[in-house]
Amino acid sequence: MQSQLNHIEHYQEWRAAKLAAWSRLKTEAAICIQDPSLLTSTEYQQLARQVSETNLAIYRFKQPDKVDRNIIQRFCEQIGMHQLDQNLCADKDSISALQVMPMGRAKGYIPYSDQRLNWHTDGYYNPPGHEIRSFLLHCVHSAAEGGSNRLLNHELLYIALYDVNPELCRALMETDSMTIPANVENGIELRPAQIGPVFFTNAENDTLNLRYTARTRSIQWKDSELIAIAIKQINTELESSDAILDYRLKAGEGIICNNLLHARTAFTNGNIPQQQRLLYRVRSYNRLFPEE
Ligand SMILES: [Fe+2]
Repeated sequence: MQSQLNHIEHYQEWRAAKLAAWSRLKTEAAICIQDPSLLTSTEYQQLARQVSETNLAIYRFKQPDKVDRNIIQRFCEQIGMHQLDQNLCADKDSISALQVMPMGRAKGYIPYSDQRLNWHTDGYYNPPGHEIRSFLLHCVHSAAEGGSNRLLNHELLYIALYDVNPELCRALMETDSMTIPANVENGIELRPAQIGPVFFTNAENDTLNLRYTARTRSIQWKDSELIAIAIKQINTELESSDAILDYRLKAGEGIICNNLLHARTAFTNGNIPQQQRLLYRVRSYNRLFPEE
């Protein structure tokens, strides 16, 4: 990746391939999985190819009623999610049940409400060494109305910025471009301030990663003209880019991704459990399909 981004001919080739793959993904059906606890080699290859091209795959389990948390865990292990993140609201098995929570620790967190969730990558506040590289969202029940996922491969965001001015990408790769202030609850520091880049590459596996939140409170951007222009351009892209994929997961469907940019629309639950949105979420420090 580093070499591709630094050499213009390689970059143009990479750019064309990424744009084409994302357009293809938008027209393709979800990948059907017969038994998520034991993938066939064809299913594995289909998922791996889709992720290597677009950082994302959408799947559909053929027998959704048989899926439980244990099966989700076994599915995650097979696709390379070995080191799981244990965040504040996750259960002991590192799976978070995302649903409307009127009480408890999750109360007050937007992911556990029916409100719109703005654009971000997961764990943008995590310390170095604990960056979220991938996550899974599995739909147990969708809401009566709304609750679509909005998805954008961050490689396409990089391309959009590069097309405007390559210097914008360079500025966002500076190691102090974005600071998340410390998380303090009742006078106790739960997490120190995190300073880091927005885009960053991994030398060991040649990949581009993103650390981003669209929130305007509790975030400090580096005082730089280029970064101010870049953030404005990112906002424009996230408001109106044709590349954005809107997908409303149905029961038994899910997404796996290399922590790409995502958002969620607001939703309204119905009166029966089957119309009350429930998603399982798993986050990992590993990228998907590391051996591919
Ligand atoms: Fe998220």
